[in-house]
Amino acid sequence: MLSLRTLPINSILLLVVMVTGGCQHTGFSGPNSIFKGRYSQYMQGNIPDQYDNLTNTLPASTENIINGEKLYQTQCLGCHGKYGKGDGLSGQQLTPRPANLAFSRRLPVTTDAFFFWTISEGGKPFGSAMPAFKEKLSDTEIWQITHYINTGFNLGV
Ligand code: HEC
Repeated sequence: MLSLRTLPINSILLLVVMVTGGCQHTGFSGPNSIFKGRYSQYMQGNIPDQYDNLTNTLPASTENIINGEKLYQTQCLGCHGKYGKGDGLSGQQLTPRPANLAFSRRLPVTTDAFFFWTISEGGKPFGSAMPAFKEKLSDTEIWQITHYINTGFNLGV
């Protein structure tokens, strides 16, 4: 059985930081905790069928990444911030706060399918202000943005 005593000290510290609200900047906290909501819904496979197991249909070419960056800057930066840290000016009063994409893009849960579903459907089911982009952006544009997020916001172009 898993007991706290068997966990390495680093995991315990991480747990303490998360439970005490240290994840404020990651967008995990607040009444509509995304940590409990979006991630668990995705991990339970409880998303619309058309998003199941999707993978990026585009190559991670410079052209696609640059287009993704331009789209990110016009559509996402206001809330998620220049470097994806969830610190955009328009997002500061929101609850829950915009996610820290620079952090969450490294988590195993943020697959291509997770990004495509989240960007397409937005945050309505979770009571968040994350807009649904499926009417506004084409599939190609969503995949380009996904490539840009996965570069880590540090391409500098
Ligand atoms: C009006 C503010 C706003 C805009 C604009 C916005 N978002 Fe969000 N986004 C949020 C909020 C708030 C959350 C956290 C709640 C949620 O997941 O629904 C979020 C969550 C996310 C998540 C989930 C990440 C995670 O780890 O939980 C992704 C991915 C995302 N946004 C991508 C984008 C992309 C890409 C764009 C632009 C196409 C965008 N967002 C535009 C507010 C915004």
